[in-house]
Amino acid sequence: MSAHTDTANLTALLDWQIELGADEAIGDAPVNRYEVPQAPPRNAPPAAPAAAPAPVAAANAVDPVEVAKRMAAGAGTLEELAAAQRDFPHCELRKGARNAVFHDGNSDARVMLIGEAPGREEDIKGKPFVGQAGALLDLMFSQIGLSRGADRPEVALYITNVLPWRPPGNRDPEQGEIAMMTPFLERHVELAAPELIVPMGNISCSACLGKRGITKLRGKWSEAFGLPALPMFHPAYLLRNPHAKRHAWEDLLSLRDKLNG
Ligand code: URA
Repeated sequence: MSAHTDTANLTALLDWQIELGADEAIGDAPVNRYEVPQAPPRNAPPAAPAAAPAPVAAANAVDPVEVAKRMAAGAGTLEELAAAQRDFPHCELRKGARNAVFHDGNSDARVMLIGEAPGREEDIKGKPFVGQAGALLDLMFSQIGLSRGADRPEVALYITNVLPWRPPGNRDPEQGEIAMMTPFLERHVELAAPELIVPMGNISCSACLGKRGITKLRGKWSEAFGLPALPMFHPAYLLRNPHAKRHAWEDLLSLRDKLNG
């Protein structure tokens, strides 16, 4: 079989599995669930306790946050930053994701929205907020005249996420994952240089403001990465809790007022 046919067959097999609903890689190696575990021979002496793992020399330990800071600082453009983030080797989430999701919208926009992490649709399409939550996000911001498709920075939106890779099964990102990807986010904000930031939901508040508690934080102007920041409810939360939409509306009006000086 040629390499081309091989690839085509493997791709068709993957597509078929996705159609059946398997949308996550859960292990690097196959598991034979029919294999009968070998019982130890009768009268065998009890197994010796497993040797303790050799201590890892602290001096050799890699600090992923420091690596991320160095890689992010080395990027001079958004394209270089996207490449550096994609190549960052220390976040396990990259192994299960199809795409690294970097951004959408107009990078000259006055307003930069920061979400959490790609979901299934975003992972497939390689863009942030393209699923149901994204549709609500577009609708919400259109009410104050802002859109990600706009050319003019005054009415445009720029969108990214804290994490570029989809967490398996859409689980919440872990604190360590947030910490190691935050240097990339900080550099992203620096390079895009918006006037205002809107962290959406708790994960984003954790990365941008260093704290959680979106119910208390939302609607209150604070500062993130040296810029004015207005935390808002995440649109996915609003889909589950429509009664909270009135607060989102208040926050949109506050954003509009700030933009209008
Ligand atoms: N939720 C997010 O926080 N980001 C996306 O891109 C999609 C859903």
